[in-house]
Amino acid sequence: MFFFGKKHPHQLTVLPHPALCPEGEIVPAIPGRSVAEILLQNRVEIDHSCQLQCACTTCHVHIMEGAQHLSPMEADERRMLDKVPGRDGFSRLACQAVFQGGGNVVVEIP
Ligand code: FES
Repeated sequence: MFFFGKKHPHQLTVLPHPALCPEGEIVPAIPGRSVAEILLQNRVEIDHSCQLQCACTTCHVHIMEGAQHLSPMEADERRMLDKVPGRDGFSRLACQAVFQGGGNVVVEIP
């Protein structure tokens, strides 16, 4: 059973993903780091074909809670997200969404 309780002062909760983290994961969220950096530093191997340069869309995630704790979306990210077939109102590029502190974030990797 996935544990949704609080473990860190600020945390990033990754919902279960069959290949990347079948049980889900709760990892410390570090202000100033992007969601992709936080995931990769905690061995959640999200795709990042352009090496976090906002030049692909392989790091597409859904921010299910806590979007207000991330940096605002900029024009380059918005332009790239327009190419993602499954984009919705929760979509971000994990490499461009920088955790700013102040609360917790819940991420779904599509
Ligand atoms: S890793 Fe390419 S856009 Fe994020």
